[in-house]
Amino acid sequence: MNNKLLSTSEVCNKYNISQELLYEFKEEGLIYFPTKNIQQYLWDKKTLNKLSNILKKNTKNYKATTINNRRYLGNKYKLLPFIKEIVEKHCKNINIVADIFSGTGAVSSAFTDKVLITNDNMYSNYICHLAWFGTEKADINKIKKFIVDYNNTNPQNDNYMSINFSNTEFNKDVCKKIGFIREDIETKFNSKIINERERAVLITSLLYAMDKIANTCGHYDAYRKNGELNKKLELSVPLISNNLNKKNKN
Ligand SMILES: C[S@@+](CC[C@H](N)C(=O)[O-])C[C@H]1O[C@@H](n2cnc3c(N)ncnc32)[C@H](O)[C@@H]1O
Repeated sequence: MNNKLLSTSEVCNKYNISQELLYEFKEEGLIYFPTKNIQQYLWDKKTLNKLSNILKKNTKNYKATTINNRRYLGNKYKLLPFIKEIVEKHCKNINIVADIFSGTGAVSSAFTDKVLITNDNMYSNYICHLAWFGTEKADINKIKKFIVDYNNTNPQNDNYMSINFSNTEFNKDVCKKIGFIREDIETKFNSKIINERERAVLITSLLYAMDKIANTCGHYDAYRKNGELNKKLELSVPLISNNLNKKNKN
């Protein structure tokens, strides 16, 4: 190997891994990301050797996901360096960030060192905000276990989702699975097996998995006629934090 520094996407291509897996190793304290060069991390030989050793021991049976891993019209994730630069220049010493049309919450995700106020009148977005920025403690191990179970399940019975939406954005089998998982999350919540934040994290995981395979161009009330409906639904574990500011409001 020569001493050229690799970007994060080059590292992912080299080892055939997702960026989310790298972030998960970071969250678990297994690896420290190298110094950031304005907009991207640059990986040196020593850090790559460490990563290579971690990957040899990695036995994870699930994938992980970060906040930006979705299709959403008007998502500002790619503008974050610009937004951060403007805020640093013109809004010195601020303690609170109110992201009033938060959408995915991507803008808020750049300010997790502040008190965050997120707001969106779409309920599915509110649920994602609760998952990414909520203050209630979520048991990550419990969430991982349920997500692995959901990925392995193969429900046969019809439900609200399969009866009403088969062969639109998803095929009938995928609809059965989505409907089953959504109902099961509610059952677990009503039986107090999971708390409100854990419910939000599981629903977020389901929403992101649906988003990945949906037969749409981004407008969810419209699906593509004769589009491909053969993709498999696979839930990933949202890499949430339990160390956010306790004054956050969603
Ligand atoms: C362009 S998106 C915001 C994108 C966001 N900054 C991001 O990076 O994902 C605009 C959002 O405003 C929300 N919205 C529209 N009208 C609203 C209202 N009256 N009150 C709250 N949210 C609203 C929509 O649901 C949508 O998610």
